[in-house]
Amino acid sequence: MQLGENILTHKIQHKSEDFFKYEASAKPMQDDNPDDGFVVTPWNIQGEIDYDRLIQKFGTQKMTDSLHSRITRIAGEDHFMLRRGIFFSHRDMDRILDEYEDKGRKFFLYTGRGPSGHTHIGHLVPWVFAKWLQDRFGVKMYFQLTDDEKFYAKSGLSMEETRGFALENALDFIALGFKPDNTKIIIDTRDISTLYPIAARVAKQLNFSNTKAVFGFTGETNLGMIFYTSLQSAPCFLEDAPVLIPLGVDQDPHFRLTRDVAPKIGRPKPALLHNIMIPALEGTGGKMSASSQNGTIYTTDAPNQVKKKINKYAFSGGQPDIEQHRRLGGNPDIDVSYQYLRIFFEPDDSKLRAIHDDYRSGRMLTGELKAILIERINEFLHEHQARREKARDHLEDFLLDGDTR
Ligand code: TRP
Repeated sequence: MQLGENILTHKIQHKSEDFFKYEASAKPMQDDNPDDGFVVTPWNIQGEIDYDRLIQKFGTQKMTDSLHSRITRIAGEDHFMLRRGIFFSHRDMDRILDEYEDKGRKFFLYTGRGPSGHTHIGHLVPWVFAKWLQDRFGVKMYFQLTDDEKFYAKSGLSMEETRGFALENALDFIALGFKPDNTKIIIDTRDISTLYPIAARVAKQLNFSNTKAVFGFTGETNLGMIFYTSLQSAPCFLEDAPVLIPLGVDQDPHFRLTRDVAPKIGRPKPALLHNIMIPALEGTGGKMSASSQNGTIYTTDAPNQVKKKINKYAFSGGQPDIEQHRRLGGNPDIDVSYQYLRIFFEPDDSKLRAIHDDYRSGRMLTGELKAILIERINEFLHEHQARREKARDHLEDFLLDGDTR
């Protein structure tokens, strides 16, 4: 596809999901303690994640009650994703708030998405939270769509396909209510003239050993992957202001490198706010993945598809039969339907608490819990899909122009 041409109408070719099967050029990240039983890297998530252990391993800071209260005080309201530990960890969030409060210095927000397929409901979590931060703090936002990254990382995807998914994913982002006057969308292959001079400054400060150690690259890793962290770093330095990045914790390794580079190029280190991985429908191990269509609810799914997927695939913390369930109760901690309500679809604490207690005690059956989730998701998607279609007419207003800076 020609740059700029057809940008609004470009259609994505549909392929079977197997086609998108993940083929990383990286081996799992070197792990200091393989006995942990889980792996978290940008291209590989495995096992049951122990988030306290992950904080130690990655060397991040835990979200504390006092930091949570401080965010709430400055924002003027609480957010359920903070209350419920969905954003469980950070780097330098306190510094961002110090500068904001003491010096009146505004930060800007940055997050992104690797367009390897259609948007899942799990992808929306950091974007919804970013929108809340943007509104409460009155700041700018950059959203990066890394069509180059997914082209490099997945041998089955062409550049036309990743570009096409980038444009489709952008609609989901815009549908969450962002406005073009304070929000810009970056598409790597389209906006490279803006990114490249910054990426080059970053790349000059990184060597192969740095990325090899962080990502486990080998001699067979393609060169695009090796350079890629420089491009994901570039938006951090688009503005002469501190940057705050809400993101899935699997993306932390890229920004660990960015943070090392920042002082060497005379820029502030990016601050990060990490969210937990959103479980796939089929279980809590790992994030929602495009490689299993069954384990995934897309933002474009019809109500009957949502219903079918949840009823058939959503991992249940219930007992094998009704008699036992009434007697022993269900386990909300491992029940994916309950977790989706907690993470995203039931912001009201008292309603969530009632569902929790009823399920735990056996008063509520798995089928009833699933029915609640199906209704909540379909309500959300009904609105979202309408806003998503409207976004097609405004997409161009959000795109970063190709200016060099
Ligand atoms: N690499 C990310 C992904 O695969 C996409 C991305 C680019 C990103 N820039 C980001 C994610 C900044 C979080 C924050 O999804």
